[in-house]
Amino acid sequence: MRMVPRGGRLFLATCLGSLLVLVLYFQSVTKPEPVVKTGSRPGKSRRSPLQTLYNGDQLELLAAQRSLHGRRELLEQACLSHTRKRRVLSPEDLKHLIVDDKHSLIYCYVPKVACTNWKRVLMVLTSDGRYTDPLAIPANEAHVAGNLRTLSEFSTPEINRRLRSYLKFVFVREPFERLVSAYRNKFTRRYNTAFHKRYGTKIIRQHRPDPEPEALEKGDNVTFHEFVQYLVDPRTQREEPLNEHWERVHSLCHPCLIHYDVVGKYETLEPDAHAVLGLAGVEGMLQFPTSGKSTRTDGNMAARFFKQISPFYQKKLFNLYRMDFLLFNYSTPEYLRTR
Ligand SMILES: *[C@@H]1O[C@H](CO)[C@@H](O)[C@H](O)[C@H]1NC(C)=O
Ligand SMILES: *[C@@H]1O[C@H](CO)[C@@H](O)[C@H](O)[C@H]1NC(C)=O
Repeated sequence: MRMVPRGGRLFLATCLGSLLVLVLYFQSVTKPEPVVKTGSRPGKSRRSPLQTLYNGDQLELLAAQRSLHGRRELLEQACLSHTRKRRVLSPEDLKHLIVDDKHSLIYCYVPKVACTNWKRVLMVLTSDGRYTDPLAIPANEAHVAGNLRTLSEFSTPEINRRLRSYLKFVFVREPFERLVSAYRNKFTRRYNTAFHKRYGTKIIRQHRPDPEPEALEKGDNVTFHEFVQYLVDPRTQREEPLNEHWERVHSLCHPCLIHYDVVGKYETLEPDAHAVLGLAGVEGMLQFPTSGKSTRTDGNMAARFFKQISPFYQKKLFNLYRMDFLLFNYSTPEYLRTR
């Protein structure tokens, strides 16, 4: 087992500490600045998405907004009761926040929660007309770093200005459905050799008794049980952060430090995406692509995979993902056996 010596870690921490940028912004901004007039049409004003949300008069959005408002309040309460210390954000925390300056939007992407399609939509929105159809953008292109700007690229005042005045949204999903989806996608598909090599070999080395040499070399055929053992092993997070595909939303998007205006859910992807595009004032310009893959979760996928997991590990896994359950109002799964 490799470990960073204590002195080395302290030194690292000091270096990182000196790079920390104070990101200060008011958490409870509910009154955005006055309506900005657009130059092109005198007398006519355009609301920013944030203004539309908080001074909303778009009747058709009201019902959707009530449930979005409920989720926001629940998140705020859950943050108050379950997080102790508040800390300051560093640019490193903002790498998942994608910025659309044209429509005043900030989107925190969470893998396995329709993030490819959201990235495609944001590429259309920020492309100055180069793209018009989200689905015409190849999936791999949507994930190329540099095609979209993230909040971490800006200076502190520029970060704070955007956090204050943009509509910030995130999409979440039932944590274990998301986890099982990540496992199936990354470990049970023959073509995902990069993940097998990067994570599979390590998981097999550490968690399979008497592994075959071929398995040790290729990292193929990791079982869900082995994957779970890897996740809850204290060594795993000591060595490096969890991969974004199974990292918790709480750690990717910092929902107790960043005041998200809209918390969308994968389980209600279509209406929630529609509401966000409505707030951005672009619902006539493009539709959120929900066709192709079914976004409905049958609710049994995770249950089936959890059958292979002992109560001991189920409990550890639940503790690992507990904050995501609490913050986003997902109830403890009925299939869960913790004793
Ligand atoms: C939280 O979840 C419960 C149970 O599923 C539901 O009845 C309630 O409406 C949810 N609350 C919010 C604010 O979404
Ligand atoms: C993985 O499983 C497949 C199908 O059962 C098998 O053909 C292959 O040899 C296995 N790979 C390794 C490295 O064990």
